Order: sequence, then C-alpha cells, then structure tokens
Amino acid sequence: MSTLVTGIGELVTCDGTGPEGLGLRHDAAVVVEGDHIAWVGSAADAPAADRQVDLGGSAVLPGFVDSHSHLVFAGDRSAEFAARMAGTPYDGGGIGVSVSATRAATDDELRALLRRRVDEMRAQGTTTVEVKSGYGLTVDDEARALRLAAEVTDETTFLGAHVVPAEYSGAPGARGDRAAYLDLVTGSMLEAAAPHARWVDVFCEPHSAHAFTEDEARAVLLAGRAAGLELRVHGNQLGHGPGVQLAVELGAASVDHCTYLSPADVDALAGAAGTTVATLLPGVEFSTRSPYPDARALLDAGCSIALATDCNPGTCYSSSMPFVIALAVREMGLTPGEAVYAATAGSALSLRRSDVGRVVVGARADLAVLDAPSHLHLSYRAGVPIARALDLSEA
Ligand code: NIG
Ligand code: FE
Repeated sequence: MSTLVTGIGELVTCDGTGPEGLGLRHDAAVVVEGDHIAWVGSAADAPAADRQVDLGGSAVLPGFVDSHSHLVFAGDRSAEFAARMAGTPYDGGGIGVSVSATRAATDDELRALLRRRVDEMRAQGTTTVEVKSGYGLTVDDEARALRLAAEVTDETTFLGAHVVPAEYSGAPGARGDRAAYLDLVTGSMLEAAAPHARWVDVFCEPHSAHAFTEDEARAVLLAGRAAGLELRVHGNQLGHGPGVQLAVELGAASVDHCTYLSPADVDALAGAAGTTVATLLPGVEFSTRSPYPDARALLDAGCSIALATDCNPGTCYSSSMPFVIALAVREMGLTPGEAVYAATAGSALSLRRSDVGRVVVGARADLAVLDAPSHLHLSYRAGVPIARALDLSEA
C-alpha cells in the first residue's frame, strides 16, 4: 500500500543540506510505501499512490530519535525531586530505591509501565527510542529488563554497571564488595544480558560513591565489546571526570550527559566527530538543578551532538523531546533548527542508524507532524502538545 502525504506546510528533512542541515522544503509531498519513504519531492510532481493523506498545512519532520532512556522501572521518586528543588544535590543514591521497586514488580506490571511510557513518547513525536536496563542489577532482573525492552525497541542497552547495588557494598576484599559486583557485571550478568542487548553502557562517575571509576568503566566496556555489544557511556554528569575521554578512546558511539566539560574534553569530542557523539540531556539539568552544558560551544568546535530525554525515575521523569528541544534552545545556545537536527539526525547518528532521523528515500517512514506551520513552533510554543508521531494506519 502506498500513501501520498500532501498538505505539508513545511517539510524538515534533516538530510544535511541547506541552513543547519535541515533540508527545508515548502512545496513538498512524500510518498510512503509500506514502512519506508519511497519518494520526496515537489507536490506538483508527486506520483500517484494508492491513497492520499492531506495534512492541511502542518509541518512534518523526522520522528524524534530518543537515544537515551531508562523506561523499565517501577516505583515513585517524586519526593526525591521535591527535595532536590529544595536544595538536596543528586548523587545517584536514589537509584537503589528504583532497583528495589523494580525487582518486586511482576513481568506484566513492568511491561505495562514500559508500554505506557513508549506510547507517551509516541504521542509527542518520538518514533525511535533506546531503552536501558539498570534497575535490576541481578543476573535475572537485568536479563528480564532487556527482554521486556526488546519487545518495544531494537535499541536495547545493558546497564548492569548503573550503580553497585546495596548487597555488594561490603568492605574491599569481602565476598560482597564492589570488585565482586564488577566480576558479576563483566561475567555471568553480561552473558545473560548480551542476547537481548545491542549496546553496553556504564555510569562512569567518580563523583558518585555509587557509580564506577575510569578503570572499572573501561573493564565493563571492554567486556561488553568482547561479548559483541557496542559502546555507550554515561560521563561527566556530576563533575569533571574521565567519561568523555574514555568514550573517545574506545570509540564509543555516544557519551551522554557531558554536563561538565573541560577544553580538553571538547577537543577530544571534536576530534571524534562522526564517531563519538556528545548526547546532551537538558531535562536532567532541569530536574537536578544543574548547570546546562554549552551546546553552542560544542557545535562551534565541530563536535557531533544529539539531544535525548534520559527519561528515568530519578534525574528526569520527562518523556518529551519537544521539552528537551525547548530547553536546548533557551538554555544551551542552540537555534531552533539546530535543536531539531540534534533530536533527529544527531541522535540517529549516536545510535549509528542511517534509516531513521531523516526524511529521505529509503529511510523508515517515521514521521512527526506538528499542529503548527513550522519547526520553530516546537520551542516557540514550549509546553504545548503540538507534536505527535504520524500514524498512517489511522489516517
Ligand atoms: O542517566 N546517571 C545515571 N543514571 C540516570 C539516573 C538514574 C536514576 O537516578 O534513577 C541518569 O541520569
Ligand atoms: Fe541515563
């Protein structure tokens, strides 16, 4: 079945051409054939199709690619958010609260929570989402989280190295110490997780007693790579640290957060442009009262950047890419167009995907539509639900 989509007030292709790489077209139509884009061009030249959908002047853009989320969790940490707004700093300690609640939940409970969150994202224009484990932290609970995540996405990430769980907080050398947990994460837990995961990730953060040092993080990433997984890193979230340099050294696809960057970090990221993407998560700075990273400086230095939500129960319980785009424009120095590019083609690059994040022939027909005439409205009308994934089966 082919569908001719017309009435597109503005088509944002993110094909890399024109100002900001947005590849804007104002006279455009798109033909979708099955799951893929079969034709993009001027409405006047559009070929015939089995049916036609008229969008009445709406802007159309690639569906958002949310390349960083932690959607498999149970429990509630809203009180932790309230405490942070009153001045309590974030240190990763609350992750243990979500771990307890997640372990206690049944498969069906977790599946229902996960699906509701994915639906919530889609309703706001997100069509690709990466989902991490990391609230199980036992062999069975991590494998379960990834099995469930694989029901909703191909972009599944093993994050057994999220924090050292409470039962491994024994003194160094004791049976249940952090070295024993490292052995588990790089051994039998990885083995159980790998069949369900594409990526391995680690919370590399010397500023948190709960997270992992540079050497520990390197061990986790190398073990993951040996098991066939590709690399992502949580780095430089709570202070200056080794995460960015480690991600670049190992050729990770993405280093996420980048809240605290030194000039040497920016240089390293610029040198790794196209390979290691700096994924910025401004919903986290919002929700933890942290300083926003300087996205403008990263772009000006030639770095590849992406935007994602990091939707999780601790540092940002928002599933909204439009919110992230608005923050990136208002607080991080991006133009509205640069923010849209980073949330689509940029985050697709961070997942090493060329079939999403762009409206080009051959790409997946993952489109977002706005109740607005241009992409500028995403940040101009912050907080207003104008974006949604275009569902051609319902059109
Ligand atoms: O990306 N930094 C580590 N992990 C999450 C937060 C997880 C939590 O607090 O539950 C993050 O910010
Ligand atoms: Fe995260």
